[in-house]
Amino acid sequence: MRSVVRRSALLFLKLMKRNDIPEFSVLPKHIGIIMDGNGRWAKKRGLPRYEGHIEGAKTFRRIGEFAADIGIKYLTFYAFSTENWKRPKEEVDAIMQIFREYLLEADDRKKENEEKGISLRFIGERKGMPADLLELMENTEKQSRDKSNVILNIAVNYGGRHEITQSVKEIARKAVKGEISVDEIDEDMISKSLYTGGIPDPDLIIRPSGEYRISNFLTWQSAYSEFWFTDVLWPDFSEEDLIAALREFEKRNRRFGGV
Ligand code: IPE
Ligand code: IPE
Ligand code: MG
Repeated sequence: MRSVVRRSALLFLKLMKRNDIPEFSVLPKHIGIIMDGNGRWAKKRGLPRYEGHIEGAKTFRRIGEFAADIGIKYLTFYAFSTENWKRPKEEVDAIMQIFREYLLEADDRKKENEEKGISLRFIGERKGMPADLLELMENTEKQSRDKSNVILNIAVNYGGRHEITQSVKEIARKAVKGEISVDEIDEDMISKSLYTGGIPDPDLIIRPSGEYRISNFLTWQSAYSEFWFTDVLWPDFSEEDLIAALREFEKRNRRFGGV
């Protein structure tokens, strides 16, 4: 009897939760998010910068799940750029440690992610990443390979220009070997050879923290993306902020060069 009550209560909660998910007339297939403003969030509170990164990682989990619940199929979160190595070693180490802890929790999240059908992937240059992190990244990817209701990319050691350079090298090597002719090189071939190969270009890119730039994020892929900016710092970014971005996206008139 008790378990029946419990089950009904759980079902009720589940339905309630589903009702909280807003409906949209049009949804982006792929959203890119530049998770910026962690340092300023911490500074405002007199805390060390890494506290901002810890809080930012929590926001990442919350917003990732909410976006998946809304029905976004592809999400790319910018976590660490090829330029971020310029930061003081202590800060870089703290960010890597937060990333390590996130990956170590993979088992807890495995169940949640399985339920939601979330598949975790990493985009970026693997060379230069700490060896233990690389192993954890590979294990996480292996674990969630088959469940692909939602693809959640985390961009780590990612730079758009680096990505394009890598792709140019790979294509040039093939041409030198005679595997392809130079005339065969087209936009489609380049797109496929990027880390995001096979994933649609981002329809919407969100940047919090009051900066109006792309900072080397999805350089090739964002050619026709819609942009949405907010002054909110990433750790404070809420479900309502994501809804506001999506409401704005509903109103955008995407022409892709047409009329
Ligand atoms: C984004 O927050 C996190 C990373 C770039 C790793 P920042 O650390 O850039 O925060 P601000 O821009 O200094 O506030
Ligand atoms: C962009 O933020 C990179 C990430 C959020 C991972 P930055 O803080 O590095 O960007 P800039 O330096 O303000 O352009
Ligand atoms: Mg920043």
